[in-house]
Amino acid sequence: MQATEDLKLIVDGKRLDGRALDELRPTKIKAGVLNRAEGSAYVEMGNTKVIAGVYGPREVHPRHLQKSDTAILRCKYTMAPFSVDDRKRPGPDRRSTEISMVIANAIAPVINLAEFPKRGIDIFIEVLQADASTRVAGLNAASVALADAGIEMKDLVSSVSVGKIDGEIVLDVAGVEDCFGDTDIPVAFLPRTDEITLLQIDGNLSLAEFEKSLSLAKKGAKEIYSMQINALKERYSHDRIIE
Ligand code: CDP
Repeated sequence: MQATEDLKLIVDGKRLDGRALDELRPTKIKAGVLNRAEGSAYVEMGNTKVIAGVYGPREVHPRHLQKSDTAILRCKYTMAPFSVDDRKRPGPDRRSTEISMVIANAIAPVINLAEFPKRGIDIFIEVLQADASTRVAGLNAASVALADAGIEMKDLVSSVSVGKIDGEIVLDVAGVEDCFGDTDIPVAFLPRTDEITLLQIDGNLSLAEFEKSLSLAKKGAKEIYSMQINALKERYSHDRIIE
């Protein structure tokens, strides 16, 4: 697609991929996709594809990182070299360090870390294909992977991005919208209480636009929540257990 300043992202009320303004991309969530992880999940939101694996609670190494009264939660978000148009240089960088931190902070409130003193819970998120909103897809996968690992949680974490493109507030920002749109807002909710555990804003918004964005994000997160629940039900359905 040509990179022009005046690229129209909304034509006749529809986005370039044919979606309505308040519509998620086709989304798939599957729990229990890795044999060697305690819990795992695969999430596809349009062309964004991520996998998450959870290990632990387990002994923390190096030991000086252990905390005597609580578990530590570590998250590592990585983009595969083949996940983006220009090959992603392997290894950590500022962006993946920041995303790892915001995902860990968004998930920590749902886990009773004090239940596992001296232990560690590790979440690994690998982006297989990136087309924007990878942190929210990673967060959705991590949340299902934690539940799949049997770690007690007070809620799931359900996350979507909203954005402003061509002056309109839209749900689930895709790559071209992220590149040529005005504002990108990843938001994570604890669906049972509507508590927000992640909110970042890249761009400008009026207060009215911000309020509209939050309510659209809440609607999208509820849709994600029911897909997360279905993925876990599918994983632990009666047929699977007696297989
Ligand atoms: O992915 P997310 O929206 O959470 O984070 P971002 O930093 O706003 O990145 C937006 C998008 O830029 C990513 O999802 C990728 O599609 C793209 N990107 C890329 O092509 N190459 C990178 N090294 C980093 C991001």
